[in-house]
Amino acid sequence: MSQNLRLLLFLLFLANQNQVLTQLDDLYFHGFNHVKNNMSLNGAAEIEKDGFLCLTNYTKSILGHAFYSYPIKFKNSSNGKAFSFSTAFVFAMVPKYPNLGGHGLAFTLSTSKELPGAFSRQYLGLLNKTVSGSFSNHIFAVEFDTHRDYEFFDMNDNHVGVDINSMRSNKSVPAAYFLDHSEKKDLNLISGKPIQAWVDYDSVQNLLEVRLSPSAAKPVSPILSVDIDLSNILNDSMYVGFSSSTGSITSKHYILRWSFRINGEAKSFNLSSLPSLLGPKDLLVIVVSVSFASTFVIILAIAISFYLFRKIKGADMIEGWELQVGPHRFSYQELKKATKGFREKELLGFGGFGKVYKGILRNSNTPVAVKRFCHESKQGLREFSTEIASIGRLRHKNLVCLLGWSRRRGDLLLVYDFMPNGSLDKYLFEEPKTILKWPERFKIVKDVASGLLYLHEEWEQTVIHRDIKAGNVLLDSELNGRLGDFGLAKLYDRGSNPNTTKVVGTLGYLAPELTRTGKPTTSSDVFAFGALLLEVVCGRRPIEPKALPEELILVDWVWDKWRGGAILDVVDQRLNGEFDENEAALVLKLGLMCSNNAPNARPIMRKVVRYLAGELALPELVAAPDEYDGKNGDVDSDSGDKCKDHVYPYPVSSYLEKVSA
Ligand SMILES: *[C@@H]1O[C@H](CO)[C@@H](O)[C@H](O)[C@H]1NC(C)=O
Ligand SMILES: *[C@@H]1O[C@H](CO)[C@@H](O)[C@H](O)[C@H]1NC(C)=O
Ligand SMILES: *[C@@H]1O[C@H](CO)[C@@H](O)[C@H](O)[C@H]1NC(C)=O
Ligand SMILES: *[C@@H]1O[C@H](CO)[C@@H](O)[C@H](O)[C@H]1NC(C)=O
Ligand SMILES: *[C@@H]1O[C@H](CO)[C@@H](O)[C@H](O)[C@H]1NC(C)=O
Ligand SMILES: *[C@@H]1O[C@H](CO)[C@@H](O)[C@H](O)[C@H]1NC(C)=O
Ligand SMILES: *[C@@H]1O[C@H](CO)[C@@H](O)[C@H](O)[C@H]1NC(C)=O
Repeated sequence: MSQNLRLLLFLLFLANQNQVLTQLDDLYFHGFNHVKNNMSLNGAAEIEKDGFLCLTNYTKSILGHAFYSYPIKFKNSSNGKAFSFSTAFVFAMVPKYPNLGGHGLAFTLSTSKELPGAFSRQYLGLLNKTVSGSFSNHIFAVEFDTHRDYEFFDMNDNHVGVDINSMRSNKSVPAAYFLDHSEKKDLNLISGKPIQAWVDYDSVQNLLEVRLSPSAAKPVSPILSVDIDLSNILNDSMYVGFSSSTGSITSKHYILRWSFRINGEAKSFNLSSLPSLLGPKDLLVIVVSVSFASTFVIILAIAISFYLFRKIKGADMIEGWELQVGPHRFSYQELKKATKGFREKELLGFGGFGKVYKGILRNSNTPVAVKRFCHESKQGLREFSTEIASIGRLRHKNLVCLLGWSRRRGDLLLVYDFMPNGSLDKYLFEEPKTILKWPERFKIVKDVASGLLYLHEEWEQTVIHRDIKAGNVLLDSELNGRLGDFGLAKLYDRGSNPNTTKVVGTLGYLAPELTRTGKPTTSSDVFAFGALLLEVVCGRRPIEPKALPEELILVDWVWDKWRGGAILDVVDQRLNGEFDENEAALVLKLGLMCSNNAPNARPIMRKVVRYLAGELALPELVAAPDEYDGKNGDVDSDSGDKCKDHVYPYPVSSYLEKVSA
């Protein structure tokens, strides 16, 4: 008995040794229920009851990793050459909201199972901003990407790419598959239906191939092939698995089946036994057959036709250009439902050019802000569509994200991320319920500066905001400042009468040159930003009719105080003296610099950001905002032409006329 036990233990020991010593390099997972111990999961990844591996759930900005628990030898130790490998897997992506994917998944080879420091969103849980592109990452990934990130030069929001140590793909193609050698069909990655993918690497020919198919049969032709020797990219032993992430838009990313093999071909899977993981709901089709024998049915038919006629008449035809526009197009009905029929109760406010409603998208329970413009001319809208296409592609943490849009006759609707803390003006003016503390104010100012820098310099083309003011700075749930309404002023410009050039903006934030030239520039944005800086510190509007005469115009008052050596006197009394004096003085002086009447005496946003970060010392202020004499430290040497322009942007008398009108 005891001898038997000893023998058994010895055998167990051998078996264990075996597992460690011999390389398991042929994996076949027909579902993951029975191999839970063989998979290392982190982030949101989990194995669901039905044995499907789900990498992400519908939470925003999360990531999920699932790797085979044991490292696999990927190189021949005698010559350092990478082995050939092959994998087949079945995946499904189920977007929370139809047609909006976020962000995708990637078949991944990595030296780590946890990928520490990796970001969600556009980084797919693989890398982060600092390390992306570094040779020391030893990351190889085939991405199935459902979000277009311009930062990484993505081609569209439905592509397959090969990523080597970087989120910028070495090569990518739109998702598709070959039926035979020549017939290529498009494939929608976020249909919710199972899709099989094959990744094969041949280390003799140094060739990597990717194939896709909605069925079991492996297509002869790959959709993506890359000549590459992975020997220098992979380490001796690597972990193999999957990585995925969500952003402000989310999808569930499933792996349903997976096989992997070193130096051999991985087995494919039969998809017919797999369910379609409920994607976007199918349209309910009602077929009404009309029998002329029954008058009742005839009446019913007439009623239905009448209803359909009304519906078709009410809906606008989708025109060609609208399909080319980038961001998601919502149906009008959907947004009408989301805002409970644009009920006054859901009104969040009157934004620049229209009303803003709170809404809840039915399918996903996502809160959104819907901005509704009324516009008389279709022509204007058509022109503006190119604008939406570009605005929709702007992505920055300090901009309010445009999720999509809709149009119906003269109504244009824009759908934005909902900002639970509303706009900054509510915290500054009149009698705010909450007083922002100094660190919060300073952070918001820096946030807005960084958002504006992105618009001016960091995107593919310069975007002029044109309407920077406290009311257009929104606060998210963590009180981060985000600029809203960017690029929209053009819509207003292109109103029904194209012959009139309206100066767009808000009194008190309008740069003086605008009233002369009518041409907004980055520098006129900086002027408005200057007014915003002063407001945030002083807690009042640029022009305050109720103030004492010498305090009526904020910038003059701050300037006088600065000259008198008492600049901190202007700081919002409601802070009760609890603020960092150096920071407050910095913001005030910068506010004065930006408020200069001469456009070329104002700093550019790149410098503003660096002043606020303390990376660059603020030059001495030498001239009042309205007495620019070319001596201000920040001016380019060739722009020293004297500009003695005393015309105030907002002559007090005309302002008061406006107030009383
Ligand atoms: C999975 O783990 C079990 C032990 O938990 C082991 O017996 C089995 O060989 C492993 N299978 C694979 C494919 O690694
Ligand atoms: C989704 O995943 C996140 C991150 O792991 C987790 O905190 C959250 O509870 C999950 N949500 C659901 C509904 O499972
Ligand atoms: C490793 O490389 C050596 C020398 O090139 C070769 O003889 C051997 O067969 C290779 N081993 C494998 C497993 O490919
Ligand atoms: C980026 O990832 C690396 C590890 O890959 C980590 O050391 C670093 O802290 C991360 N950086 C950030 C900003 O998270
Ligand atoms: C792939 O991209 C990486 C990073 O951009 C680069 O180092 C490498 O040379 C590229 N390889 C090929 C084959 O293009
Ligand atoms: C990968 O290999 C390189 C060189 O062979 C080594 O310096 C590095 O530590 C390895 N990285 C990991 C994470 O194993
Ligand atoms: C796939 O499975 C179905 C039924 O489950 C079966 O009829 C069919 O022959 C299978 N196809 C292949 C290629 O094995």
